[in-house]
This record gives sequence, C-alpha cells and structure tokens, in this order.
Amino acid sequence: LLKDRINDLLSRMTIEEKVGQMNQFVGLEHIKRNMGNMTEEDLKTNTANAFYPGISINDLEEITKKGLVSSYLHVLTIEDANYLQSLAMKSRLKIPLMFGIDAIHGNSNALDNTVYPTNIGLASSFDTKMAYTIARQTAKEMRAMNMHWTFNPNVEVARDARWGRVGETYGEDPYLVSLMGIETVKGYQQNLDSDQDVLACIKHFVGGSQPINGTNGSPTDLSERTIREVFFPPFKATVEAGAMSLMTAHNELNGIPCHSNEWLMQDVLRDEWGFKGFVVSDWMDIEHLHDLHGTATSLKDAYYQSIMAGMDLHMHGVEWNKLVTELVKEGHIPESRIDTSVYKILEIKFRLGLFEAPYADVDKTMKIRLNPEHRATALDASRNSIILLKNEDILPLKKTYQKIMVTGINANDQNILGDWSAIQKDENVITILEGLKMVAPNVEYTFVDQGWNPQKMDAKKVAEAAEVAKSSDLNIVVAGEYMMRFRWDDKTSGEDKDRSDINLVGLQNELIKKVAASGKPTILILITGRPLSIESVLDDVDVVIQAWEPGMYGGQAIAEIIYGKVNPSAKLPISIPRSSGQIQMIYNHKPSQYFHPYAINSSKPLFPFGFGLSYNNYAYSNLKLTKTEINKNENTTVSIDVTNNGNMEGIEIVQLYIRDKFSQVTRPVKELKDFARVSLKPKETKRLQFTITPDKLMFLDKKLKPIVEAGEFIVMVGSSSLDKDLLKKSIFVKKDNN
Ligand code: IFM
Repeated sequence: LLKDRINDLLSRMTIEEKVGQMNQFVGLEHIKRNMGNMTEEDLKTNTANAFYPGISINDLEEITKKGLVSSYLHVLTIEDANYLQSLAMKSRLKIPLMFGIDAIHGNSNALDNTVYPTNIGLASSFDTKMAYTIARQTAKEMRAMNMHWTFNPNVEVARDARWGRVGETYGEDPYLVSLMGIETVKGYQQNLDSDQDVLACIKHFVGGSQPINGTNGSPTDLSERTIREVFFPPFKATVEAGAMSLMTAHNELNGIPCHSNEWLMQDVLRDEWGFKGFVVSDWMDIEHLHDLHGTATSLKDAYYQSIMAGMDLHMHGVEWNKLVTELVKEGHIPESRIDTSVYKILEIKFRLGLFEAPYADVDKTMKIRLNPEHRATALDASRNSIILLKNEDILPLKKTYQKIMVTGINANDQNILGDWSAIQKDENVITILEGLKMVAPNVEYTFVDQGWNPQKMDAKKVAEAAEVAKSSDLNIVVAGEYMMRFRWDDKTSGEDKDRSDINLVGLQNELIKKVAASGKPTILILITGRPLSIESVLDDVDVVIQAWEPGMYGGQAIAEIIYGKVNPSAKLPISIPRSSGQIQMIYNHKPSQYFHPYAINSSKPLFPFGFGLSYNNYAYSNLKLTKTEINKNENTTVSIDVTNNGNMEGIEIVQLYIRDKFSQVTRPVKELKDFARVSLKPKETKRLQFTITPDKLMFLDKKLKPIVEAGEFIVMVGSSSLDKDLLKKSIFVKKDNN
C-alpha cells in the first residue's frame, strides 16, 4: 500500500533528511550557464556563482549525494537531470529527485521541445480540449527529459495590462480561466500514477495579478468579496480538478504576505477546499518575509512563520536545511509538522513512479519530443489563437498584391516563441517572414530589418521602411513587445517587466504611421504578452492582427490567416484598454462603474472581451428558453440558431452571459457563464443549447454565503461581450414556496 511505503520511508529518515525533502535547488547546468566562460574545473569549484554565493557546484553535488535535497528547478537537459538523479541514487535512502520547470507552453525553456502559444493565446481560442491536449503532450515531452513538475497553469485572473505576466494567464474572466485551468491540470496529471504524467502547479495564490501600480510583487489590497468572487474561483476549480501542488504569490494580501498566510494556505485551501497536495514557495519569497516585508525578525523566523502557516516545499536556497533543522531540534517546530509536508512530497514522488524509474532514456527522448503529432497541435493551436481585430476589406489577401514589404521588430525573430522560451534551433521555428514566403512563395517580399529590440530602434531604418513602403503594393508591420528571457534586460513584457503605460515601445508608432502614410494598404501584426493600447495608430492601418506569443509555428499560422487558408476564429480573453489610465478596463464590471464617464476620454475599451473578427458573418436568431420561470433548484435550457452567412467554413465562439437584474449586493453588468466553439460550413445553421444550472445564477450574499435569489436574470447570447452583439431573454426565479 502506498500509505505503508511512505510511512516506512518516513520512519527511516533523519530530521536532516526530512528537512532536505522540503528544499529545492537550481539545476547545475543553469548555474553554469550563468557563470559565463570558465573551465569545467572552475565551474565546479567556483563559489561565486550568482545563485548560491559561497557554495560551489561540487558542494551542491555533495548535498545531493547525502540526500539533503528534494528537487531541482530549471534543469535544462536530460543529461543534467539524469546526472543529478544518479547523485541522489548514491544517497542513503535513495529517494529520487523531482525536477520542476516552468513549462508554461510546452517545455520550451529546454531545447528541442514543442513550443505552443502561451496561455493568453490559448485562452483566445476558447478551446478547452486544446488546453488538455497541449498539457498532455507537454507532460510526455517533459517525462522524456526526466522532468516531473511544471509550474503551470497560472490561474490568476488578469485585470491589469500593466502587469508583465498577463501572457502567462488565461485573461480577465474567472469562468474562462477556470475551465482552461481545469483541462490543463487534467492534461498534465491525468491520474498522476503513470510515467507519462507530470505534477501540475496552480499559481500564484493569490492576487499577484492585481498588484498596486501593476508592478509584480507589490502589495495587493482586495476585499474578501472580490477575492472570493473573482480570484478564488479558478484556484478552487483546479483544486477540485485534482491539482496536487500550488505556488504562493509574491505579494502581501491585505497586509499579510501570502508566504506566511495561514488563512490562505490552511483555512481556505485545505480546510475549505480539501486540497491534498503540497504548497511550494516562489523564488526567495520566504526570505522576503524578513528582508523585504519585515514581518519576520530573522531568516529563521521567516522559515518558521512560513512552515507554521502551511508551506511544504522551499524553492531555492541552502540556508533552509540548517535553520529549519535547528527549529525542529530546538522544539519550535514539531517534527510531526515536518512529517506532514514530507509525507505529501514523498506521496507525489511515489505516484509519479520516480522510485521505480528515476531516469529517462536518452536513446528514446527524441522519439517523443517534437514528434509530428505534437508539432501539428502547436500549429493548430496557433491558428486558433490569433485574433483578427480590424479588417478594412483587405484580408484574405488577393493576388493583386505582388510586392509586399515586411518590417518591424517581430517580423523575422524567434520572439514569437514567447516568454519562458529558450532560443530554439532555426529549423524548429517559422518566423512571420518565413511563414509568408512559405504560404505565398510567388509574391516578392522586401524585408526591412528593424532589429529585434524595440528600445534600440534606428530612425534611419524607420525612414528606409517608409521609403520602401511607397513602392510596394501592400505593407506589413510586425510590432509589439520583446519577451525572450535570455535577453533579460531588454525584455518589455514578462516576469518583472511591468509597464506604467501600455503603448508600443520605441519608434514603433512612428514606423507604423510612416509606413501607412505611403497610402498603400497596411497590415499591423502584434506580438505581445499583454494588451497594448494602439489607439493612436488604429485609424492609420487597414488590418490589425493580435497574435500574442504564438509559438514555434506562429509565422505559418499568421501567414495562413493573411492568405485565407485559415479563417480566423479567436476572440479576446481580455479587454484591450485605450490607455493605462482606463485600467481596470474589464467587461464584467459593476453597474455604477461608468455612471459618470471620463470627462474627455472614452470610457469604452478599444476592443472588448470576447471580440474577434472572422472572414464570415455569423448571424444569431431564435433565442429561446425551455422555461422562463424556474424554481431555485431548477435548470432551464437556452437555445439559439447560429448561421454562417459567409463563403468560408469557419468556427464561431458563441458566448453566453448572465446578469442578475436586482440583488441584495451589487453584481456585474454581465458575467460569462458558458460558451461553445461551433464549426459551420458556408450557409449552414446550427442550433446550440446551453443549460442554465442553479450554480450559474448563484452569488455570494451579504455574509459571503452562496445564494440563488428570486427575481429576474437576463440571459445574453452572442458573439462578444458588447451589448449590441447579444440577443437577450429573461428568466424569472420564483420565490420559495414557504
Ligand atoms: O514558477 C516561477 C514563478 O512563477 C515566478 N518565480 C520563479 C518561479 C520558478 O521559475
């Protein structure tokens, strides 16, 4: 029995070994890469590495051989993973290491893995099955590299585009985030009992996506109502889906840092929701209780507070072993508290089969990674994640455009792979320029290179593009942000790359305007991890394509959309504000939010949640309810006809929103409660059905208890969150009989 195996092992462990099972280090190869060019001997003995000052790689190897570490993160090669594991196998109890990595959109920090679109793109497809498939394939590729634990999905609700990590999230809507998160967790973990599964990690708990000023890790101040209505639901849903690890957030929440927050880790997560997995800290965040937040008087006190609040595993750092062992030996932390954490960590290692198969097979690894099925999924996911925001009758491109200029920082760069990705081999990435040449090879393309760095653009190159634009039939500007991690200082989007404005960086606006001034049709493609306020150039261009971070086949997918081989279908999972001053710009705001609109500026988003164009027109008609009056515990069914009035086959994302018209507490003007992706042939009509169950009418009453109230609810079905795109009908919930 699993329980007996764990208890037996636990009974044979020393306190030092137990405390070591609660600690994680950074992969050796990763440390070496950060140490620059040194001889192999220097690399191993040098104690001046940036990660562990005073400790050499040789020392880390010794610690591993003694069985005093549980896990490594950011192990980047199968060789490094197998090597580290061989050291752990020399330890007294031979407890295998578990390797964790930020495999956010494929295992893309490592080389030769399939790179899918990032989560914000995936969410734009509203394709939960695709989320499952990508997670499943990623799990297989990870296990083929001896990696067992991904720090994904990020199920934070993103309502602030200034925050740099929006691209890692599924956007602004708690329902969509929950569904994408659930399928992702299921895809990674399945039942967690096979050598094809990896451990999912839901993160960051909680409120990190809404820091004051939009800067990562700043304090978060949220009412319990907002936490429970907006930020908790995706965490609760993914816990219920079986997520077995959770990462706490950098920030303090209402004055208490999440890393020492007993209410979050114990009362809510475990006692209310029944979470059975383990909690991991984020990088240096327990340390920050002492050296940043000032809620712990010493490092030792920080470790004490975090463990006693419910922390199980410490990410990164060697001080942990010594200080936590002291805390136990001095009687401050009961050994039984340590046993609780170690039990859960060992349970995962047993369930993942690490004791039986601690190594991955170097000969078989490339049969699994980047295999044709996974590549096909990456391409498909890209096609489904790219949003057409504007089209002045230019797309799909006609044959008359024979001379096309392509320019912009993201036109021919691997940046399309997105955040958390290494530079991959050229043959594994199709840039946008390459995609265009591949899909329409007979066109004459002129590429005017603007470099990859938006912050170092050259005015001469901008002028050159403006000149070439005049003699082209059509021009394509590929603008956006820079997010590749290996050029950390130049990134404008990603972790710790927050922005006080959300305009295009550098000379990009100038480039777009000058190119468009040629009078030739202009296509703007945006490669971004966050919504950008492009209002100042919107009227200049004929087409806007929001491609997010589309992954390894992004260039092909974009070109296929441009040339009409693929009909765009994605819709915005997050509103695009006109300026950072409009933040929070969300569709599911409270009724009074724009009672007094801005004096001069618009109070409307540039593009609303749920919006996205297709080459077809889809018509909605015949909205019906099986029952318009229901009891509080009853269902009713909504049905609607959707017709493809266009000439191409296409996919429409049909959205269902509900508004509670009168209620004891204020409720949003609408909330997404269901959606469907429906594929329609030209002129085809399909009738769709959605069931309204009582939980879709439920809200938290004045005392934060779930309730369904009697009264009128407005059901809205259509193509975006805009009122003009929705058909409406009312449901009346009857009063209780007694
Ligand atoms: O998983 C990440 C986390 O999201 C941010 N800090 C570092 C961790 C490990 O890379």
